[in-house]
Amino acid sequence: MTDKAELIIGDQKLELPIISGSENERAIDIAQLRGKTGAVTIDPAFMNTASTKSAITFLDGEKGILRYRGIPIEQLAEKSKFVEVAFLLIYGNLPNKEQLDSFSTLLTRHSLIHEDMKRFFDGFPSTAHPMAVLSSMVCSLSTYYPEEHNFADKQSMDVTYARLISKVRTIAAYAYKKEIGQPFVYPQNHLRYCANYLNMMFSVPAEPYEVDPDIEAAMNLLFILHADHEQNCSTSTVRLVGSAKTNLYASVAAGILALWGPLHGGANQEVIEMLQLIQKDGGNVKKYVDLAKDKTSNFRLMGFGHRVYKNFDPRAKIIKTTADKILKKLGINDPLLDIAKELEEAALKDPYFVERKLYPNVDFYSGIIYRALGFPTDMFTVLFAIGRLPGWIAHWKEMNEDPTTKIGRPRQIYTGEVAREYVPLDQRK
Ligand code: SDX
Repeated sequence: MTDKAELIIGDQKLELPIISGSENERAIDIAQLRGKTGAVTIDPAFMNTASTKSAITFLDGEKGILRYRGIPIEQLAEKSKFVEVAFLLIYGNLPNKEQLDSFSTLLTRHSLIHEDMKRFFDGFPSTAHPMAVLSSMVCSLSTYYPEEHNFADKQSMDVTYARLISKVRTIAAYAYKKEIGQPFVYPQNHLRYCANYLNMMFSVPAEPYEVDPDIEAAMNLLFILHADHEQNCSTSTVRLVGSAKTNLYASVAAGILALWGPLHGGANQEVIEMLQLIQKDGGNVKKYVDLAKDKTSNFRLMGFGHRVYKNFDPRAKIIKTTADKILKKLGINDPLLDIAKELEEAALKDPYFVERKLYPNVDFYSGIIYRALGFPTDMFTVLFAIGRLPGWIAHWKEMNEDPTTKIGRPRQIYTGEVAREYVPLDQRK
């Protein structure tokens, strides 16, 4: 296979190198294109453009493959815990016992937020969307640790990674407590990562609260499944903001806002609202499948389709099985799950969806589980953010470790007015 591409522009012929990844993906390296020809490439939404090389996550959309640092998501889902997967993504390998203990200790030691930060919540209306609160509070964390933005100081950055992963739970839980008018519940050092979060979310000072191990296990699994997904919109946002040497807190705060979008992580909330709409409308699944096909309707089947997966999203498969299991264990019969399954079945038989390779994605069934675990719909994307945080950190770290990293600054093709003179006000029409 030639490792070069030949480009002909006018009477110019340019040879461009082709690079290959460890999974034999190929990319035409166009670094010399503008210098040699004056032309640039254009690829809105980067459908055909790799923004970087990365060794963190590999996914094959055609085959429905997803691996974190080479380990298949199915094995991590079955055998691992979120804290271990966070370490794997950030540091590149599964931790040994000593590494896992010290990482867990850092997470335990850094779970409290500064007492002054609690007052920030007073300023938010109780109707504030928790994603807006989460992003503002994560960005505010940067004001408490100004000295810890020196990437060269590995030890302090290790603390920063753990601090963020630990505190994001506390901030998320406080955002929920603010919304429902209940007192904030402090983290408890004797609890494991997910149990600590559940306790901060659902316990109240007035009575004892026991974390259900099945719910704790479901949280671990869901956080693992959301932990990274290569160059998705929010991760690319973290990388672009970070490429300006912006500190990690501010870069992640930007990623949280990108994830909030209904076409991205915000879809998990939209899916439940869509299923409730269908339920209210008598469960007429066919009507909504037809609506999704009608271009004039502006209606989309939320939780369906994916930029990269043109086969089943492997995460959706695992989440669907887990939804059945956890609802059965909790003795919950959620009619929305039946509607979701009917919708999936109808869509996967319909040529519109089959031709466009639109399958359920990670967001289609996750909300069913979150509901069963007692989370309100507007917290679903916050849960996605807690899961995705180690991935964002891993990519920010990988980018900062790469000596060839430059500030991201795309080109454009100008289509506005050509040069013209200024016209004084009294001469304008
Ligand atoms: C996530 O990138 C990632 O990795 C993201 C993510 C991660 O882990 O980070 O996996 C998480 O964001 C999952 C996606 C969640 N979003 C949704 O579920 C929203 C609903 N889905 C879509 O809007 C859409 O499928 C996207 C945004 C996910 C992907 O959109 P693309 O790649 O830009 O594709 P497109 O909008 O150009 O659609 C191609 C065709 C179009 O029809 P035609 O113009 O060819 O006639 O498929 C149609 C679209 O109209 N289409 C849908 C559809 N999704 C695409 N039609 C109906 N319902 C849908 N859901």
